[in-house]
Amino acid sequence: MDSFPVLHTRRLNLIEIKQSHLNDLFNLFSDKEVISYYNLLPYKDIEDAQPLLDWFISRYRQGLAVRWGIALKGSEHIIGTVGFNNYTENHRANIGYDLQKEYWNKGYITEVLQMVICFGFNELNVNRIEAEVMQGNLASEKVLEKLRFKKEGVLREWMYWNGAHYDMTMYSLLKSEYNSSQNPKEP
Ligand SMILES: CC(C)(COP(=O)(O)OP(=O)(O)OC[C@H]1O[C@@H](n2cnc3c(N)ncnc32)[C@H](O)[C@@H]1OP(=O)(O)O)[C@@H](O)C(=O)NCCC(=O)NCCS
Repeated sequence: MDSFPVLHTRRLNLIEIKQSHLNDLFNLFSDKEVISYYNLLPYKDIEDAQPLLDWFISRYRQGLAVRWGIALKGSEHIIGTVGFNNYTENHRANIGYDLQKEYWNKGYITEVLQMVICFGFNELNVNRIEAEVMQGNLASEKVLEKLRFKKEGVLREWMYWNGAHYDMTMYSLLKSEYNSSQNPKEP
């Protein structure tokens, strides 16, 4: 990609994550409810957010991933992040997303994922979008189900974190399913 692909939805802008967003990332990932299904400890100091910020920037520069900052229209602050953690030569990409708690349950992540999924299938030439969800993360499962992801099964003790193994549920959406849901056949 020549320049970062800024995207727009009805209520939100998806923008490039920059050094100026360090404090926003700190706010997001210092909330223990936001990271309760992640293999992360809540950030305590603003510097704790720097490795993640650097990772988002360098993975994008290397063409390995793209993570957008989610901003309300008219604001440069980011209230969440969304994107593809990787794309593989098998045309597979793994999706991730998070949002500050005060904005939950307004349909924001469903809205941005619709745009990001469209971008993945049409611009990144992805064929399969995957999401792994830690068991118990009902809001995340609901989002994926609203977007017609299929639940494939449980990856048993797939994640090791902080001395324990966690089951993850694998969801996926194929390009063929996405295309047919966008162009429903006439009855
Ligand atoms: C998961 C997350 C991103 C969802 O963002 P959001 O903007 O609130 O999502 P939406 O508003 O688009 O949709 C949420 C849906 O889950 C539902 N929901 C929320 N909490 C729920 C719960 N405990 N049980 C069942 N459904 C729940 C909401 O009612 C809504 O469904 P609806 O539109 O049918 O009413 C947000 O909760 C979050 O940031 N969580 C922490 C980070 C995270 O877990 N990321 C995903 C890792 S796989």
